[in-house]
Order: sequence, then C-alpha cells, then structure tokens
Amino acid sequence: MEEVPLEAQRSQAPAAESGHGTQTRITVDSPQAMQQLGRRIAGLLRPGDLVLLTGELGAGKTTLTRGLGEGLGVRGAVTSPTFVIARVHPSLTGGPALVHVDAYRLGGGLEEMEDLDLDVSLPESVVVVEWGDGKVEELSDDRLHVVIARAVGHEEVLDDVREVSVHGVGARWNAGAGLDALAGAVSR
Ligand SMILES: Nc1ncnc2c1ncn2[C@@H]1O[C@H](COP(=O)(O)OP(=O)(O)OP(=O)(O)O)[C@@H](O)[C@H]1O
Ligand SMILES: [Mg+2]
Repeated sequence: MEEVPLEAQRSQAPAAESGHGTQTRITVDSPQAMQQLGRRIAGLLRPGDLVLLTGELGAGKTTLTRGLGEGLGVRGAVTSPTFVIARVHPSLTGGPALVHVDAYRLGGGLEEMEDLDLDVSLPESVVVVEWGDGKVEELSDDRLHVVIARAVGHEEVLDDVREVSVHGVGARWNAGAGLDALAGAVSR
C-alpha cells in the first residue's frame, strides 16, 4: 500500500472527558492520506471497539472508513450506505468484522440499531458509526472518537485539507493505547 505523507501535526493533551485517554491531532491533506490514516487506526483496533466519526457532510468519514476496512482486511468495498443504515463487512483474515453504520437517518438511537438485526456479534466486531454522536455511545463505555473538520483558510488552497482529532474515551484507551503513534511514525 502506498504511503502518503501525513503532516505530523501531533499534539497530545489530556482528554477533556472522564480524565482518560489521549487526543492526537493530524493534518490530512488528501483523500489518499485520509484513507491511510484509516489503515493506521485499524492497526490499533480490536474486536468490540467502537469508533465514532464526526464531521459535516463530505468531511471524509466514509473515506476514513474505507481505510479502516483495508487495514482490517475485510470483504467488500466500503461505500456510503445510502439505502441501508448498516453494512457488515466480514473479515478475510480471521479478524473482527467491520460493521459500518450510517446513523444519519437513525432517529431513535441504540434501540433502533439493535432492531436492525445485523446477524453479527457486536462484541466480536469493530463498529464504526458515522453521525452517531448522542445516539450510540451506550454501545460501549469505551470509544474512539474521530472528529474531522475542514481546515479554515483560502478555500481554493485548503479545499482538501482536514484537521482530524482522534480522542480515546474510557479505560480501553487509557494511556493512549498507541494513539500517539498515529501521526508520529511518518516516513516521508
Ligand atoms: N483530505 C481529505 N480527506 C477526505 N476526503 C477528502 C479530502 N479532501 C477531499 N476529499 C473529498 O471529500 C469527499 C469526502 O466524502 P466522504 O463520503 O468520505 O464524506 P463523509 O464525511 O462520509 O460524508 P457524509 O456525511 O455525506 O457521509 C470525497 O469526495 C473526497 O474525495
Ligand atoms: Mg459518509
């Protein structure tokens, strides 16, 4: 897989919530780099992990999820689940399946998600939720919260630039669990 330089705008700060976890910020300047960040994050994930993706329409949530799917070695192309709320991508390598949820139209939150009858064990999967803020946190005390924001500046120059913050919440991500390496170990 081609390595794209990720701007190593790394900073660590104590997590605002719950006193646990680490926050890492990464500047991502292309869709390819976003996908690569997804592959890197995938390397930190284990069965049962919940990843929440926050960011406006077109921020790059699905692009990052595509990289997660590649990194996890799952079957099927990760696309925007336009007609379904969730899609299950089974592992091709004996690892966890990727459950990709688009909660945009999920009104009722968790109950509705459980009603989806996904035919997969969530504790044995990696669950990634777009637009899940305030809806699916109860799925797990621990979660990785990825916030993607467009960089502010001259639009024509910074159109492709995103500021990504990766924030581990809960004991699972206590002491960072490798988050600090996301932007750090960049070979340029
Ligand atoms: N640095 C970047 N990172 C990610 N995507 C980028 C970047 N620069 C440009 N893009 C473009 O922005 C778009 C992001 O689309 P994507 O479907 O990933 O967004 P999304 O956050 O999932 O949107 P939605 O809320 O509609 O689900 C793509 O067309 C991608 O090519
Ligand atoms: Mg999307």
